[in-house]
Amino acid sequence: MSPNSPLDSPPDVGVLIAAGGRGERAGTGEPKQFRPIAGMPMLLRAIRPFTQHPRVRRIVVALPPEFAARPPAWLAGLRGERLTLVAGGATRTASVRAALAALDAGCRVVLVHDAARPFVSLEEIDGVITAAAGGVGALAALPVADTLKQASDAGRVVRTVPRDDLWRALTPQGFPRAMLEEAYRAAGDGTTATDDAGLVEALGRSVVLVPGSVANFKVTTADDFVVAEALARL
Ligand code: CTP
Ligand code: MG
Repeated sequence: MSPNSPLDSPPDVGVLIAAGGRGERAGTGEPKQFRPIAGMPMLLRAIRPFTQHPRVRRIVVALPPEFAARPPAWLAGLRGERLTLVAGGATRTASVRAALAALDAGCRVVLVHDAARPFVSLEEIDGVITAAAGGVGALAALPVADTLKQASDAGRVVRTVPRDDLWRALTPQGFPRAMLEEAYRAAGDGTTATDDAGLVEALGRSVVLVPGSVANFKVTTADDFVVAEALARL
């Protein structure tokens, strides 16, 4: 490879933010990603570490369709050369698919991040970018710390599940663009995976873990907002 080959320079990164959900488990009325945490909307907290990152060329945010048509002012004001808003779909998979379709061709590494993870660290972002730029899928992950029980519907323990090799999958998850596009093509429209690495794994491609951070948890329930408020005020 010649020293001037484009592959010698770090690839531009595109970021897809999955913000198309309704936040039903949080029970907050409006979608949880718009709810403020210590005064700042959760979605804005989730986007900011990427807008400030020197390698990130483009951010595409998938929103519930009515919010893509009429975004809140703080979000509309961010639109521009680096940030695009698109209408998401009925599932997370459909929302990420819509965002991926809107990403300009120059981004050869693609990161996907949940709007419901407002405390992503720069270390996690850099770790995922570095691994994905090397040609594999990558995700931030944490080792499972609790003992795991498998139980029946009636709440009776069936067995204890060995946790030695189990990890919690977080986002960001990052991929060479062609790998993620192939995974979404293969998945078809009906697929409803809860993460993107799962679709890439289904192709038999290598996916590696990058150390995640405890603060990068997914805000899912009303209680999680209490934890998020406390974290934001630390
Ligand atoms: N998401 C999305 N499009 C959907 C559904 C979910 O982009 N149709 C996004 C959410 O906005 C969130 C992320 O995927 O940032 C993770 O999903 P989850 O935590 O389940 O959020 P919601 O689907 O909004 O919440 P719930 O399942 O409680 O309704
Ligand atoms: Mg959901």
